[in-house]
Amino acid sequence: MARMIVVDRDGKEHEIEAKTGLKIMEILRELDYGVAAICGGLCSCATCHIYVDEKWVPLLPKRQSDELDLLNELPDFRPATSRLSCQVDFTESLSGIKVTVAADS
Ligand code: FES
Repeated sequence: MARMIVVDRDGKEHEIEAKTGLKIMEILRELDYGVAAICGGLCSCATCHIYVDEKWVPLLPKRQSDELDLLNELPDFRPATSRLSCQVDFTESLSGIKVTVAADS
């Protein structure tokens, strides 16, 4: 098990254990304070929007164009840190990552 720090929409931090090999979205949607992930990971709903703590951003794979297109439509898009969590694999090297659940938009 690896670890993840999740900041909910009220700003409260939760440290959780999470299985690697899943999408970050798959971990977050199991939490009461996580994401809705309505499209199930098809990169079409943006209800899995998170902000990744800046120091972890360089460790993530770059956004593909479909992810970026969808993020660009969001009013609360933050160019440096916004990701769709269904597009990011949770790997051992990301153990300890801190992510913030974005507001519903
Ligand atoms: S779950 Fe719908 S875009 Fe990520």
